[in-house]
Amino acid sequence: MNLYERYCLPHIIHLTCSSPVIQYQRRLVVPLARGRVLEVGMGSGLNLPFYDPARVEFVWGLEPSEGMRRKAAPAIACSGLEVRWLDLHGEEIALDDQSVDSILLTYTLCTIPDWRAALEQMRRVLKPGGQLIFCEHGLAPDAAVQKWQHLINPLWKPLGGGCNLNRPIPELIREGGFKIADLQSAYLPKTPRFAGFNYWGVAA
Ligand SMILES: C[S@@+](CC[C@H](N)C(=O)[O-])C[C@H]1O[C@@H](n2cnc3c(N)ncnc32)[C@H](O)[C@@H]1O
Repeated sequence: MNLYERYCLPHIIHLTCSSPVIQYQRRLVVPLARGRVLEVGMGSGLNLPFYDPARVEFVWGLEPSEGMRRKAAPAIACSGLEVRWLDLHGEEIALDDQSVDSILLTYTLCTIPDWRAALEQMRRVLKPGGQLIFCEHGLAPDAAVQKWQHLINPLWKPLGGGCNLNRPIPELIREGGFKIADLQSAYLPKTPRFAGFNYWGVAA
């Protein structure tokens, strides 16, 4: 990890991920989480205010970046939720099989290098009847936007800590062995179209 990733990136990610339109998206998905929750790539804890404390027992916060975990400390302190850190990558989730009621994945599948291994791990730890709740940006449906996404991606990825603009999120989730029960998608307002196409919903 270089100096940019260690010291600058956590602040940049926190700022870009706390825009009002992204906060609006969080409100659509995070309250669906219940029971023992695993949040993959918890980042700076921006989802914490949107959990329903009456439905959540505790949250395993999986986050490999020490800088992001540090940045999450104030949100955890305000949340009143119990957060149990997992200092791990999504590709190696050290939890028992079928031990999680809900998995929350927001703006992280774009970044996980081995997304297939990570989704397999998520499937392994999810209880039968549990849900993968997701909200991600990804490949846009319009060819003109896709062209820009593919062009910009090699420059964007190192600046964004490994974030890819052009991942076909629903395809990845299905290839990871999940069945998508609810899927919505749209360009977010006030966001450049190459970075603003969102997919959100629930898979089992
Ligand atoms: C764009 S941030 C999103 C953070 C948070 N989920 C949110 O919605 O604000 C992506 C996060 O994924 C984390 N990350 C990077 N590689 C990862 C991996 N292999 N497994 C899990 N998380 C990873 C990063 O450290 C970062 O916190």
